[in-house]
Amino acid sequence: MQTVTLIPGDGIGPEITESVVEILKAAGAEIQWDVQTAGADVADKEGTPLPDRVIESIKKNKVALKAPVTTPIGKGFRSVNVALRKSLDLYANLRPCKNIEGVKTRFDNVDLVIVRENTEDLYAGIERQIDKDTAESIKIITRKASLRIVDFAFNYAVKNNRKLVTAVSKANICKLTDGLFLECAKEIAQKYPQIEYREILVDNLCMQLVQNPEKFDVLVLPNLYGDIVSDLCAGLIGGLGIAQGANIGCNVAVFEPVHGSAPDIKGQNKANPTALLLSAIEMLKYINQNNIALKIEKALYKTIKQCITLTPDLGGSATTEEYTNSIIKNI
Ligand code: NAI
Repeated sequence: MQTVTLIPGDGIGPEITESVVEILKAAGAEIQWDVQTAGADVADKEGTPLPDRVIESIKKNKVALKAPVTTPIGKGFRSVNVALRKSLDLYANLRPCKNIEGVKTRFDNVDLVIVRENTEDLYAGIERQIDKDTAESIKIITRKASLRIVDFAFNYAVKNNRKLVTAVSKANICKLTDGLFLECAKEIAQKYPQIEYREILVDNLCMQLVQNPEKFDVLVLPNLYGDIVSDLCAGLIGGLGIAQGANIGCNVAVFEPVHGSAPDIKGQNKANPTALLLSAIEMLKYINQNNIALKIEKALYKTIKQCITLTPDLGGSATTEEYTNSIIKNI
C-alpha cells in the first residue's frame, strides 16, 4: 500500500477528484490517500492558501495527485501552483500530448511532449509598480535551471525512444535571457548525439503547430512559453479535458492536469475527469503499479472509443458521473 497526497483543489477539482478516486478504487489500486486541502477556502480558514501541512505531506509521501486550484486574477494571493512547484523544486513540467482514438480533432497524428521549465522566468513573481501608470515584471533565466530542464528533456527523449528535441525561445528579442536558455540547450544537446536537436522561435512554433503538429516530438521551453504552448497543444488533441501533466523534481513528483479550475462549469456535473485520470495513470506507473495503470488506461480508451457516454467538452451529453460509471464498467 502506497500513501499518496491528494489535493482535491477547488472549482471542478473536487468533482473530478471524486471520479478519479472511485475509478482507481474500482481498479484495485493499492493507495492510501492523504487528503490535503488548499486554495481560497483554506486561505479564509487558515490564513494561507497553501499551509505548510500540504508541503510536509508531499515531502513525506514523495508523490501527490493534484486537482486544479484557482488563482485570483490581478489581485489576492499568489498562485498555489507556482508556490508548490517552487517550494518542492518541481523543476520539470511534463505534458505529453497525443491523439486519443474517438476524440474528433483537426489532426490525427499529434504525438508530442512538452517539457516546461517550472521554477523561474516571469513566474518568479518579481513585479513592482513604478508609478500609477507603469508596472514592471522581471524575467529570470538562470544557467542552472536551463541546463537541468534541457537535460531532463534529452534524458526523457532517450528513455522514451524519441528522436528530436526542439528548444523554444524568443532569443531574437530577449537576447540575454532567452539567449542564455538557448546557449544552455546547445551545450546539453552535444551530450546526446543520438537525438536530433533543433531550435525555433515561439511565434513560429505556434504557427507551425497549428499547421503541421506531426513535425514536432519533444519541445523544451522556458516557463511562460511552456504554459501557453501547452494549452495550444491541448487544443490540438481535443481540449483541456484530456490534457495530462506531471511536475517532477529530484525525488518528488506531483501529477496534475494541464487545465485550471474551470469556474464556468463548477458544480454542474459536466466536467471531464480524463485529464486528471490520465495524470493518475502516469502516477500509478511512477509508483510501480503498472498493471493497475494499464487496466484503467484500457477501460478509459474503450469508453472514449465507444462514444456513448462522453462529457460535453468532447461532444457528448453525459454527466461526469455517467462517464465515470462507464469507465468503471469497462474495468
Ligand atoms: P481553465 O483551464 O480552468 O478553463 C478553460 C476552459 O476549459 C473553460 O471553458 C473550462 O470550462 C474548460 N475546461 C477546463 N477543464 C475542463 C474539464 N476538465 N472538463 C471540461 N471543460 C474543461 O482555465 P481558466 O478559466 O483560465 O482558469 C480558471 C482558474 O484556474 C484560474 O484561477 C487559473 O489561475 C486556475 N488554473 C489553475 C491551474 C492549476 O491548478 N494547475 C492551471 C491553470 C489554471
